[in-house]
Amino acid sequence: MAKEIYLTGITTTGTPHIGNYVGAIRPSIAASMDADKKNYYFLADYHALAKNEDPDKISQSTLEIAAAWLALGMDTANSVFYRQSDIPEIPELTWILTSMTAKGLMNRAHSYKAAVQANIDGDNKDPDKGITMALYSYPVLMAADILMFKATKVPVGRDQKQHVEMARDIAQRFNHHYGDVLVLPEPLIDDHTAVLAGLDGRKMSKSYNNTIPLFAPEKQFRKLIMKIKTNSLEPGEPKDIEGSTLFDIYKAFATADETAAVAEQYAEGIAWGAMKQQLFEYINDHIGPARAEYDRLMSDPSIVEEELQKGALRARELASPYMDQIRSAIGIRRLG
Ligand code: TRP
Repeated sequence: MAKEIYLTGITTTGTPHIGNYVGAIRPSIAASMDADKKNYYFLADYHALAKNEDPDKISQSTLEIAAAWLALGMDTANSVFYRQSDIPEIPELTWILTSMTAKGLMNRAHSYKAAVQANIDGDNKDPDKGITMALYSYPVLMAADILMFKATKVPVGRDQKQHVEMARDIAQRFNHHYGDVLVLPEPLIDDHTAVLAGLDGRKMSKSYNNTIPLFAPEKQFRKLIMKIKTNSLEPGEPKDIEGSTLFDIYKAFATADETAAVAEQYAEGIAWGAMKQQLFEYINDHIGPARAEYDRLMSDPSIVEEELQKGALRARELASPYMDQIRSAIGIRRLG
């Protein structure tokens, strides 16, 4: 049987935080080393445009995310690691797919519907206020990302599942019309990966401004951990591990035995301050070596750029001939 092809994209907005690390970066890096799988990872910088980011923020975020993945040991020999905008075949395929995408399908996208709903709730006269075609057509670009590399499995968070299903719908319609050219992908949702809460107890997310950057300098890192919300139980009072952000973060980094030991400390009434210090020290030791490498890459972005260029070459080795085949299938061909 042909090898499964795994592909996933990371939108280049924001600075990688410990929630990203636990939920996406760590499992992807582990998978990147698996010789039985063909893995594609890319920085979705064209997708970042849909969020109306400013130019400096997009390039800074691209560098930070690429440096973080590389510093954490992304296996770029076994997997293909590239930047979306380095692959001109992707926007080209996007347009072709656009002609095979029902407008009604896009109308049903959760993210578009949520934006419309926000306008309606905000009593806006125009339900499409502030909504760009990039937001609206976001799933078509994502379909091109996926279909360009014949991905069979697409590991994504639950919120992206619909987009992968749309890619499948679009591919099906294309194949129906033009013959069997595209490979149908499947979303891969891992329900076991931890979703971490942030400083205020809500899900850690850039949109809530409650994140702990993975590679914040040590001092700032400690300060942020000290800010994590707890309740007002005094030292010596037994504490519940259920619903404790500190505990959940610890658990996401530690072994089962270490986690059980901390649960014991909770029952014995560890002071919140002491728990925070313990959490800080644990994570700091865990990520210390990668942080040094991250700092090195951030101070010499040309190393990162070179890695991405290498990745782009390998990605285009596949995308370019496949694009010829797709173009030919739709009737965009040499005339003689
Ligand atoms: N839209 C995805 C997100 O916001 C990122 C992404 C872009 C992606 N293209 C992709 C994920 C292709 C998987 C496959 O998380």
